[in-house]
Amino acid sequence: MKTIITGASGPFGSTVAQGLIDRGVSAADLILVSRDPRKLAKFAEQGADVRAGDFDDYESLVAAFSGGEKMLMISTNRVGQREPQHTNAVNAAKAAGVSHIVYTSFIGKDGCNSLAVSDHRFTEDLLKKSGLDWTFLRNSQYAEAMRDAAGPAAVASGHWMSSTGDGKIAMVTRENCIEAATAVMATDGHEGKTYNITGPERISFRDIANLVSELSGKPIEYIETTDEELYAMFDSMGVPRSAQDDLVVNGFGWCSDDMVSFEATIRAGDFDVISDDFENLTGKKPERVSDFLSRYREKLSPTAA
Ligand SMILES: NC(=O)c1ccc[n+]([C@@H]2O[C@H](COP(=O)([O-])OP(=O)(O)OC[C@H]3O[C@@H](n4cnc5c(N)ncnc54)[C@H](OP(=O)(O)O)[C@@H]3O)[C@@H](O)[C@H]2O)c1
Repeated sequence: MKTIITGASGPFGSTVAQGLIDRGVSAADLILVSRDPRKLAKFAEQGADVRAGDFDDYESLVAAFSGGEKMLMISTNRVGQREPQHTNAVNAAKAAGVSHIVYTSFIGKDGCNSLAVSDHRFTEDLLKKSGLDWTFLRNSQYAEAMRDAAGPAAVASGHWMSSTGDGKIAMVTRENCIEAATAVMATDGHEGKTYNITGPERISFRDIANLVSELSGKPIEYIETTDEELYAMFDSMGVPRSAQDDLVVNGFGWCSDDMVSFEATIRAGDFDVISDDFENLTGKKPERVSDFLSRYREKLSPTAA
């Protein structure tokens, strides 16, 4: 069976590809798709079929997906504007003869109206109506965002501004999301299933600010904000309001419309989802945020920040 992975040059897709090879999948059975297949040279050298495909270009996707059966469809980064891109990908997969799409979605209770989630629920509905087999990996928020963006920014400024109130979320590491995706791609029986990939504990941003302070040794004042004040903070950092492909500003790879809407959704309790799906899929316990941040403590040191 030929397996397709989209977004294959990024950390998510490339690690799943390598994980499948490590599990004994022949590289020749992988079709790896990227906007820039030159970034996939290391997989081409191992015998993988690397192809150009852009979710903004339907025809490129039909050609890129041809001959593949099961596909890991990694959602793009244009939060709030992904519906046309994902429509192209699902329609092209169908035209190319793909039979099963495993889709990286996002957690959220029914009725959750976060900007990030609306694109994902649209895509889930599209897949349900497509006639293809589908599997949804509803990943929780990545703990990596605390290590790479929010944590270092707070260590550098000495304060953590948040509009999340008393809301909680069971953050998960991207490493664990990748392990779950690899397990689903490597094994059978996942058709029609929705998995909530979460960490093992519900945690607040205040808890994380305290943890980052403890690990870095830097006092961090936690400041509760309104949505408008949070926008003003991101504006002052130069973070764009709407999504810009592949743009990272001070470690933040997401636009402020996304992040402000995201924090409001935590405040409303709509991301307060916890599940043992990760353990059931992988046989391992998901990593606690505190263990993850301790493992990368040096990234939170005042000199690194
Ligand atoms: N759960 C969370 O907290 C969280 C955090 C960040 C992001 N996300 C979301 O989860 C998904 C994966 O994010 P990630 O950071 O883990 O993954 P990632 O490895 O950065 O993958 C994203 C991939 O999207 C592909 N892509 C972007 N625009 C594309 C286009 N026009 N056509 C085709 N492919 C395109 C890129 O592939 P190429 O460059 O190879 O074309 C890139 O590798 C994204 O939807 C992202 O918004 C979730």
